[in-house]
Amino acid sequence: MKAIVQDQYGGASTLTAQDVARPAVGDDDVLVQVVAAGVDRGALHFMTGRPYLMRLGTGLRVPKVRVPGVSFAGRVAAVGPHVAGIVVGEEVYGAGRGAYAEYVATPQGKVAPKPAELSFEEAAVLPYAAFAALQAVRDHGRVRPGERVLVVGASGAVGSIAVQVAEAAGAEVTAVCGPRGQRLAAEMGADVVIDYTREDFTDGSRHYDVILDVFGRTPIRRLRRALAPRGRLVIVGGEADRWIGGLQRQLGAMVLSPFVRQSLRVFVAKENADTLHQLNELVTAGQVRPVLGPSYPLVKAADAVATLQAGSASGRIVLMV
Ligand SMILES: NC(=O)c1ccc[n+]([C@@H]2O[C@H](COP(=O)([O-])OP(=O)(O)OC[C@H]3O[C@@H](n4cnc5c(N)ncnc54)[C@H](OP(=O)(O)O)[C@@H]3O)[C@@H](O)[C@H]2O)c1
Repeated sequence: MKAIVQDQYGGASTLTAQDVARPAVGDDDVLVQVVAAGVDRGALHFMTGRPYLMRLGTGLRVPKVRVPGVSFAGRVAAVGPHVAGIVVGEEVYGAGRGAYAEYVATPQGKVAPKPAELSFEEAAVLPYAAFAALQAVRDHGRVRPGERVLVVGASGAVGSIAVQVAEAAGAEVTAVCGPRGQRLAAEMGADVVIDYTREDFTDGSRHYDVILDVFGRTPIRRLRRALAPRGRLVIVGGEADRWIGGLQRQLGAMVLSPFVRQSLRVFVAKENADTLHQLNELVTAGQVRPVLGPSYPLVKAADAVATLQAGSASGRIVLMV
């Protein structure tokens, strides 16, 4: 099959289109013929091997999985002997390593039926963002109707879904993003949109019941200033440095949380079908939709990744296989 391959960690130039063997299908796996794959920061981290800390899992010197890509949508081509409830030919979407290829094999527990309301492109960009966004809003933020929720990084992949999920939960949502994302955040339904280049949302003049810090660079003490006395802070992301990716903020929050009245939480999103089923309900109810950006053919994956790294695209980037 045709696949995008990388034999070393690095930038877009490490990616080449090659013919490789189809992945083996394990007992609990589904083999999916990929129609579209998402180009996102998740894939970027696996590709660059940064923050370096993650190489403990992905391969110290070279990537263990040569084919990048984590989010996809497509049709089931084969199923392992232990798989139940998924049939060949079914349209699915989900998460799996090696999605930048004609076929990807992944455990059954990481895929769900593709909602009929979504095109393959729309479905392909959702899993990576939705795992983090839904689990941040529902499981860790425990957002309730009427609560004031602040989403930092609201125009990005995860943040734009988090805004919609929090709105669907009945919250009053304030979105924080740069000048380019203002319109998108408003279109996602945010009640208030703050431009972080013009306003300091941590000046202490406004307080929120829940803060979802999706694009984390703001120090914990400043985030706490914007949090209600018994508010909940959920740290989703951090891109601060190449070694541990800003993990110092996460560690700081974990150490501090038992000693303060505010709840300070960090989490690593779980790739599971349960979250995708919850997402399907929100999509079917018209409460969540992704905003698509440019699309590229599979063989132009390097260009697609370069566009993501340049930060020049508005909306999610997708590869068509
Ligand atoms: N915990 C987990 O398991 C998990 C799962 C998935 C992702 N993540 C992490 O979540 C983070 C976000 O990922 P993403 O894919 O959503 O990224 P993304 O698509 O690049 O979005 C980044 C967002 O952050 C905004 N932003 C940039 N600088 C900012 C600043 N100084 N203050 C406030 N907002 C700022 C951007 O707005 P403008 O473009 O308008 O400036 C944009 O809205 C990443 O660190 C990723 O690694 C964590």
